[in-house]
Amino acid sequence: MSPESSDLFSLCKRRGFIWPSYEIYGGVAGMFDYGPLGCVLKNNIVESWRSLYRDREGFIEIDSETVNPAPVFKASGHIDEFSDLITYCEGCREPFRADHLAKGLHDNPDVLSPKQLEELFKKNGVACPECKGKLGPVEEFNLMFKTTIGPGSSRVGYLRPETAQGIFVNYLNLYRYNREKLPLGVIQTGRGYRNEIAPRQGMIRMREFNMMEVELFVDPDNKDWDRFPMIENEKMTLVPGDGKEMILTVGEAVKKGIIANRVLAYFVYATQQLLISLGIDPERLRFRQHLSDEMAHYAADCWDAEVLLSYGWTEVTGIADRGCWDLSRHAEFSGVDLTHFRRFDEPKEMEIVAVRAKQKELGPKFKDKAKDITKAIESKQPEDIKNNSLKITVHGEDMEIGSEFFEVVNIKEKVSGERVIPHVIEPSYGLDRIFYSILEHAYNYDEKEDYVTLRLKPGVAPVKVGVFPLMDKDGLDTIATSIYEKLRMNGIECYYDTSGAIGRRYARMDEIGTPWCITVDYDTIEDGVGKDTVTIRDRDTKEQRRIRIDDVNRTVADMLRPC
Ligand code: ATP
Ligand code: GLY
Repeated sequence: MSPESSDLFSLCKRRGFIWPSYEIYGGVAGMFDYGPLGCVLKNNIVESWRSLYRDREGFIEIDSETVNPAPVFKASGHIDEFSDLITYCEGCREPFRADHLAKGLHDNPDVLSPKQLEELFKKNGVACPECKGKLGPVEEFNLMFKTTIGPGSSRVGYLRPETAQGIFVNYLNLYRYNREKLPLGVIQTGRGYRNEIAPRQGMIRMREFNMMEVELFVDPDNKDWDRFPMIENEKMTLVPGDGKEMILTVGEAVKKGIIANRVLAYFVYATQQLLISLGIDPERLRFRQHLSDEMAHYAADCWDAEVLLSYGWTEVTGIADRGCWDLSRHAEFSGVDLTHFRRFDEPKEMEIVAVRAKQKELGPKFKDKAKDITKAIESKQPEDIKNNSLKITVHGEDMEIGSEFFEVVNIKEKVSGERVIPHVIEPSYGLDRIFYSILEHAYNYDEKEDYVTLRLKPGVAPVKVGVFPLMDKDGLDTIATSIYEKLRMNGIECYYDTSGAIGRRYARMDEIGTPWCITVDYDTIEDGVGKDTVTIRDRDTKEQRRIRIDDVNRTVADMLRPC
């Protein structure tokens, strides 16, 4: 944990944002629980993400299982590819991520092979950072948690390392739900599990974490987005593959071929909008393109939203063009057609390659079954022919038909469309990293006053209003309780506090990021200009003004409305 983050972390623990999991048993590295304030802040982030994708862009939401049978991850490539490189110290047996030990010794250790890493360690005399012991060989370590499904079962399952696969395996259901139209945007939030080798960076690297994932299925020949013209002149800080940081408009980035297409660029910008609206400092946010050898096994182009934290530049969201990888792999492994029917504006005469039955040979051999066998043969595609024969099912009977009964021909046909495999654009948000980044960017310590303020955006702040009677008597308490109740009835999270000096109460609210505090004082009850009014104090300016009690709900609701 970085020194800066340890002050923030102790605040988070003390005030109920985040607690290390299983602390009474000594804790488990890379695992954290959300406390009451953390839960509300986390839910507020999720709601902002939903409001962007579901309400603004019209995407649909699902919630799929977290335990998946092995074939899902065989198809997705995770069983074969989803590993990090590990090395153990031969002395103390501590495990290390080999690429992390190579930081500072190579420009991009991510791309090095096990052999190259071993050589780099040897050349530079890299030893165990804990005990200075000798490092063992570098090996692949698959990050998925393995289990079995069902008691006494040999059916292997895995905890999902990303929520995305739950969307891909439901593509057919979703496509039908969307009346077989593209684009089709689907969102899912939930837990992901990765058995990270060495989670030493607080909430940045967790073993069980929260994701907000978006899978947008598009026609491969139409990677565009209707709303693109609305944002094409907006600016983004980009670090393309060559590593040179530049500020470009979204339109320029596409025109210069820096971002592969308009739909990917649109969602890179949408991610910038979301992160800034949540409280990420725009000056500490950039989008970095993956180098081709850094890209995940499925990606065709990928941009990481990186936030500058006390840990350095840190990925909080990956926005990838996954091409046709996901659906073509699941179609191949499941045997189910996962294509989209792209309808032509007008039917077209096209030359197609088709399988046709040889009637002359079929009739004498199959007699009255010949008609149905013909139908079954002609429903097949040339690529279904294996070892010169076709497998068909007729009246429930599986049959293997030899090549003497069919031929592959070129024919002209009027066709109304063609089948294509949709491509996937995926913005994948790490909820916990965003949560932590918001807190780090909001954290403000005034050394002179020894005073902490969390400058959270009102929309995400877990408590919106602190409500205090100046004194817990003389009827001030009754009025304050009634203000508190009315705010809560209107769905505004607030906190009622009577204890201690008023300055202490403000400080407690500033420390958890509460944007406004309302105080009922003696002017509220005494005849004069202040009668029936209360003070409302702004967390950041510390300014106070008086408003009428009757206007409290409307004033707070107006201030909370996004501009
Ligand atoms: P990294 O390179 O940092 O391990 P990644 O490239 O493997 O991350 P993705 O697979 O793109 O990450 O996952 C999508 C998002 O999920 C990331 O942008 C990140 O915010 C989040 N994430 C990934 N791994 C973890 C983790 N172990 N703990 C917390 N968040 C994570
Ligand atoms: N779904 C993106 C990832 O987790 O890699």
